[in-house]
Amino acid sequence: MVSKQAFGKTQDGTAVDIFTLTNSNGLEVRAITYGGIIVSLRTPDRNGKLEDIVLGFDKLDGYLGKHPYFGAIIGRYGNRIGNAKFALDGVEYKLAANNGPNALHGGLKGFDKAVWKAQSFENDKGVGVVFTHTSPDGEEGYPGNLSAKVTYTLTNQNELIFDYEATTDKPSPINLTQHTYFNLAGAGKGDVLGHEVMLNADSFTPVDKNLIPTGEIRKVAGTPLDFTKPTAIGARINQDDEQLKLAGGYDHNFVINRKGEGLALAARVYEPTSGRVLEVSTTQPGVQFYTGNFLDGTLTGKGGRAIQKRSGFCLETQHFPDSPNKPEFPSTILRPGETFRSETVLKFSVQEP
Ligand code: GLA
Repeated sequence: MVSKQAFGKTQDGTAVDIFTLTNSNGLEVRAITYGGIIVSLRTPDRNGKLEDIVLGFDKLDGYLGKHPYFGAIIGRYGNRIGNAKFALDGVEYKLAANNGPNALHGGLKGFDKAVWKAQSFENDKGVGVVFTHTSPDGEEGYPGNLSAKVTYTLTNQNELIFDYEATTDKPSPINLTQHTYFNLAGAGKGDVLGHEVMLNADSFTPVDKNLIPTGEIRKVAGTPLDFTKPTAIGARINQDDEQLKLAGGYDHNFVINRKGEGLALAARVYEPTSGRVLEVSTTQPGVQFYTGNFLDGTLTGKGGRAIQKRSGFCLETQHFPDSPNKPEFPSTILRPGETFRSETVLKFSVQEP
């Protein structure tokens, strides 16, 4: 089932709608046209009890204010571009620096702050909503009129599928992702340090003091970033490790182990008290595993509760950060006549203790 309601207005008076997607098992996803933000996601625990497992706010106001990308579609370029500039075909482009010297998550007004056009659908696969948005040539410093289409599909197999597409009329970098923060015990139910995480990644891209990849692809073996076997987030997060210290915890791009193209498992997360399991598969080469290190209790979230440090984690499937300045990384350049496509599948289930 899919339904649409009004959710308020932006500061300039643009109407924002909310779509509610429900599957045959009662899983429910609510997403708004502002930023394509997933404002709630209710999934059953091992006793069948539905609970909202994503961080955010009760009302539109919270999302219109300053916040760290809760639930949003990120574009044009997810993650950081070092020194907020890049060269493409011999031309240098300057971006707004909104993260120290870097450009982060699309700039000052990225796709997370756009009001998207939206159309709901029901088909054999499930129910969903298609979000579309065109970013004009030069917006946030990026070249080309870039049209993006992001489809959320909720299936009766308890999957939430994100399909991304984009076209451009000038060569331009693109790195679309989704920035939902999960707490599988339930939003507002403490920190995520007890969640057991498996990342299907033998290597990661180490960062410098500005959280920009150095260009190295480093093995995780023997480091606290080795999640090839399920390990609690909190087991090693405070270890005296250079990479953990630079990021204040986990905030790293992992290189997904894959055999060829297509969907590959990126991560599996299990929360022992609720039994909830989240599996993430993607066609993308990387996943940013972020443990909410910058959350600090100053924002008031759902139910009037402060959003505390490490009370949520993100798995942002993506191309590697700073790729426009790293020719050795898989290319993020989209050219006229091409269509960018990627897919990420979130699968929800439960596990007995
Ligand atoms: C991403 C980044 C983090 C942080 C969050 C938002 O996960 O990698 O460093 O910027 O977004 O706070």
